[in-house]
Amino acid sequence: MPSMIAQIRLVSSHPEVYEPCEDSFALVDALLADRSKLLEHQPALCLEIGCGSGYVITSLALILGHAESGAYYMATDINPYAIQVTSETLEAHGVYAELIRTNIASGLEGRLDGLVDVIVCNPPYVPTPEDEVGRDGIASSWAGGENGRRVIDKILPIADNLLSEKGWLYMVLLAENNPSEVCLQMREKGFASRIVVQRSTEEETLHIVKFWRDPDIQIENNESRSKNRNGNTKASESFFTQMSRLSFWKRDSEQ
Ligand SMILES: C[S@@+](CC[C@H](N)C(=O)[O-])C[C@H]1O[C@@H](n2cnc3c(N)ncnc32)[C@H](O)[C@@H]1O
Repeated sequence: MPSMIAQIRLVSSHPEVYEPCEDSFALVDALLADRSKLLEHQPALCLEIGCGSGYVITSLALILGHAESGAYYMATDINPYAIQVTSETLEAHGVYAELIRTNIASGLEGRLDGLVDVIVCNPPYVPTPEDEVGRDGIASSWAGGENGRRVIDKILPIADNLLSEKGWLYMVLLAENNPSEVCLQMREKGFASRIVVQRSTEEETLHIVKFWRDPDIQIENNESRSKNRNGNTKASESFFTQMSRLSFWKRDSEQ
């Protein structure tokens, strides 16, 4: 039986490309933990944002049994060397994915809006000075600006647009990124969330969080918007009602 994850010894590398690390491994472990759900999910289109070495998108394709699953794979990265290395990693594992050098998913909106069934993303999440964000080369792999959220906060609304009705997003978040706040932001867009993997190393605590659209949350959001529009709810009542209902990590009808 072929290995279910990319053998990174086969992975091509480049000094300007992020080498698979604890965060990449934790993300692939989350995909493995969800393997049976992913197989049932039968995604038609999978996208990685920020593919680096290609370890994650290649592993996702192997986990899903790329040839049999019939899924189409795509990956983006802002770093041209990452596109080259990912192409070599995919080829070494006999997997095909369409690779696009772009900022997040810029230029793909018209083509992919509402169509992506699985997005995986290990973003640049390290808190750094703002002026380090978006620099060329390897620095773009980790530099996340204040709270490490500069790139993450740009990815979230884009993921919302790209994901299909049944779409799932798996994202790596660091404790310093304030995962609960990220989940609240996604909840306002109608998404439930759960931590699939949580892992602490000497340097960091990583969370791999999965997001999916939840009809109950969407109904709640619509009700609370219409109440606010009609002015029926005092601001303080509205705040406390929402807070008491809030549970970032979804337990019911868990995905
Ligand atoms: C932490 S690395 C993760 C690489 C790989 N996915 C992994 O898990 O090993 C983040 C990746 O995102 C890419 N990246 C950073 N900013 C980006 C942006 N605005 N659009 C697309 N890719 C970006 C970096 O070049 C880098 O390859």
